[in-house]
Amino acid sequence: MARDGAVYVCQSCGAAQSKWSGQCQACGAWNTLVEEVQARPPGALATKRGARSHGLAFQGLEDPVAAPPRLITGVEEFDRVCGGGVVPGSAILLGGDPGVGKSTLLMQVAANAARRGISCAYISGEEAVEQVRGRAQRMGLADAPVRLAAETSLRDILDGLKREPFDLVVIDSIQTMWSDAHEAAPGSVTQVRAAAGELVRLAKKRGTAVILVGHVTKEGTIAGPRVIEHMVDAVLAFEGERGYPFRVLRGAKNRFGATDEIGVFEMGDAGLAEVKNPSALFLDTSGERAAGAAVFAGIEGSRPVLVEFQALVAPSAYGTPRRAVVGWDSGRLAMVLAVLETRCGLSLGGRDVYLNVAGGLRVNEPAADLAAAAALASSALDEALPQDCVVFGEISLSGDIRPVSRMESRMKEAAKLGFKRALAPKDVEGAGGLKIDGVARLAEAIAKIGDGDWR
Ligand code: TYD
Ligand code: MG
Repeated sequence: MARDGAVYVCQSCGAAQSKWSGQCQACGAWNTLVEEVQARPPGALATKRGARSHGLAFQGLEDPVAAPPRLITGVEEFDRVCGGGVVPGSAILLGGDPGVGKSTLLMQVAANAARRGISCAYISGEEAVEQVRGRAQRMGLADAPVRLAAETSLRDILDGLKREPFDLVVIDSIQTMWSDAHEAAPGSVTQVRAAAGELVRLAKKRGTAVILVGHVTKEGTIAGPRVIEHMVDAVLAFEGERGYPFRVLRGAKNRFGATDEIGVFEMGDAGLAEVKNPSALFLDTSGERAAGAAVFAGIEGSRPVLVEFQALVAPSAYGTPRRAVVGWDSGRLAMVLAVLETRCGLSLGGRDVYLNVAGGLRVNEPAADLAAAAALASSALDEALPQDCVVFGEISLSGDIRPVSRMESRMKEAAKLGFKRALAPKDVEGAGGLKIDGVARLAEAIAKIGDGDWR
């Protein structure tokens, strides 16, 4: 039985239950319920004595709206993902796997901002001041007037920031912060929520922009940043595949700008370098393109990005053939495979299929369907695509190829990088000097790939 005031909170989704059970009833995760003592009994708001209400002050829609001012940090890729700089008084959550480079990125952001006259504090709950300073020095940021502190007590942090206000404060990480107003352990949902709530309140009240680091963890043990996503103004995800130096900063939610914007960085010995032309990075333009490769003309946020889809269709050694995909949606792969089988007569049923997006990028666009299908067919038929050809188009379940958004930008970017033609939806007009090999149906595209004369 739960003690008085105790609830069992799922550390994965934040749902509360009155009784402990092995599985969370809300999200289905196992062994994630942890007993936490509630700070305030339900209904406390209604019964609080002496509280006065002032009613609501309604306003109309017609008054002019001023664009929010922005703190330009000078790390352009970061500023763009934020919507053109950081809005004063906003709270930003930066999530990512441990070791992806969150601390490195935010130290660079703080240092560059500080050099531009923005007052910045970097508060680390994970590392000692010496460690943070040592890393900043190795990255050549020693001259930047960033104020450093190592602290995990929320009370001390809030007190300190009241006494010495800043324009921008980095909290690394929200999971290490704890408030003495709550009994729950640091890193638990209660603590993470309470700490985030206090820091967001501080941001709003003092006009300080607060950037919270949140580790994304495997479900269970430590509360994920998901439980505070609704409290902050913007959620940024920092992503990267192990073994690749590329890092992608992605806007997942932004009250002050567009989402789906990306910033691209390369991790090196002196920290993260901004990548201004991602296409050149994700694309290997040196050697001959092998069978199984197709270059997708994609759009990431506001920018066109060319990436290579690589497929391998191999005889299966097992009863159930393997399907493995990196950087693309596995459900989407299953759909493309089904359409290839039923509408194009390409038999893949008994074979292993591997699909990989080169460079460690994650592609989410339906426009990539045709590129994935082309890579798969190219591998299955052992026919390489023309060296100078990019691919884009959405595939419907009936096997039709549909036009996609922003085709002109895609083609112009491809032309800039030396491509001469595009395998694309029919009736699309070429742009930037690109010639269109238009296809109305997937079967036509597969016939082209199988036809040695096409090249
Ligand atoms: P870090 O920013 O500490 O990651 P996070 O805060 O997300 O846990 O970055 C850790 C990794 O980055 C570590 O494996 C070392 C690497 N790194 C470099 O390659 N070059 C550098 O200049 C720095 C500072 C880190
Ligand atoms: Mg870190």
